[in-house]
Amino acid sequence: MKVLLIGSGGREHALAAALNRDPKLEELHVAPGNPGIAQIALCHELDIKDNKAIVALAQKLNSDLVVIGPELPLVNGVADELAKAKIPCFGPSKAAAQLEGSKDFAKKVMSDAGVPTAKSFTCTTKSEIERALDTFGAPYVVKHDGLAAGKGVVVTDDRDFAIEHALQSPQVVIEEYLDGPEVSLFGISDGHHVIAMQPAQDFKRVSDGDLGPNTGGMGAYSPLPWAPDEIVEEVLDQVLNPTVKEMAARATPFVGLLYAGLALTSHGTRVIEFNARFGDPETQVLMPRLKTPLAQLLLAAATGKLKEFGELDWSQDSAVTVVLASPGYPASPKVGEPITGINPNSNSFVFHAGTELRDQILHSAGGRVLTVTGVGSDLTEARDAAYRTISQISLTGSHYRSDIALNASVAEKGN
Ligand code: AMP
Ligand code: GLY
Repeated sequence: MKVLLIGSGGREHALAAALNRDPKLEELHVAPGNPGIAQIALCHELDIKDNKAIVALAQKLNSDLVVIGPELPLVNGVADELAKAKIPCFGPSKAAAQLEGSKDFAKKVMSDAGVPTAKSFTCTTKSEIERALDTFGAPYVVKHDGLAAGKGVVVTDDRDFAIEHALQSPQVVIEEYLDGPEVSLFGISDGHHVIAMQPAQDFKRVSDGDLGPNTGGMGAYSPLPWAPDEIVEEVLDQVLNPTVKEMAARATPFVGLLYAGLALTSHGTRVIEFNARFGDPETQVLMPRLKTPLAQLLLAAATGKLKEFGELDWSQDSAVTVVLASPGYPASPKVGEPITGINPNSNSFVFHAGTELRDQILHSAGGRVLTVTGVGSDLTEARDAAYRTISQISLTGSHYRSDIALNASVAEKGN
């Protein structure tokens, strides 16, 4: 099988590594890729905003499957273009990608499908915004309606700041605050049938102790030893299956990865958000644990054959990933610094996120630079492996959280 993967981050590096392990894979191409991915796949220059260029590359490479990493090409309708060219694509159509592209659309689908989520109002004027904020009270949750590259959501006790953030977008969703631990659960969907992956937890805030601003994600771990055993079944029944059924009933079936961001509240599980693609950095902890051949799984989803596919096979290992970020991330990352000391061992992987080669020397090129995943027989071992490898990496001014999976590993040891 010849696979073309679109994207250039840590998520795509982890996906590329997993695709490579599939015995049916013959060729792996990634566009645009990055220096880490270039060590394990053939990379091609590409502007990911250019749908025609993506289709042309897939045709030129004779790809049997195109896997779309980031949300932008999906919301731009690349899956529709690939469908016209009769090339199987793992990733939803433009209409189905609205589950991520519009918070208001996602709320309507959840309402129609009976999926539990935070109560919300969609607002366009200042008076609507104020009324909604005062209905729910603090902490205020304000979400820009469209794609916002991780910057659209504000959770704050400051009413003036909530209003200011809301007024920056023509339409916002204001919703009740959901208390409780967050879980990311990914469903692989062929439009009608869904297979759930194992849950992971993502650390969104920049600093230890969940302090500081939200980021794209500073670390993750999987599995979750503290999570209820039935969580996967429950989310399949209450969230993933009803959503996929509703999208099919609307004649816009969702084919690809349905990412449910969940809050486990005292009143039950609630959806915080949907994404239409693999999460980053959750993918970096799930892929090293997945034993099922990934290329075959994603092709089955892209071609409507998941029902026959069977269950996923996971290693018993735990995995922890820690993100190495540039100085100033997330507000104003400073890039262009040399990186040295990348020495993964048999229990750790270094996935490149924002790197580039200059005169054959690796430099930082993005806010999130590397994601370092450790694996081990439990979370403590996995943490040790990740932190041992990340602590040896030199990048001036860079920072990472020191508490990824810490509480869960302590609780696990205590059991
Ligand atoms: P989102 O992009 O919708 O996932 O929001 C980013 C982050 O904001 C989430 O991971 C949560 O930590 C937080 N968040 C979003 N919605 C809520 C909510 N209703 N209640 C509490 N926290 C939220
Ligand atoms: N881990 C959060 C995201 O991928 O959006």
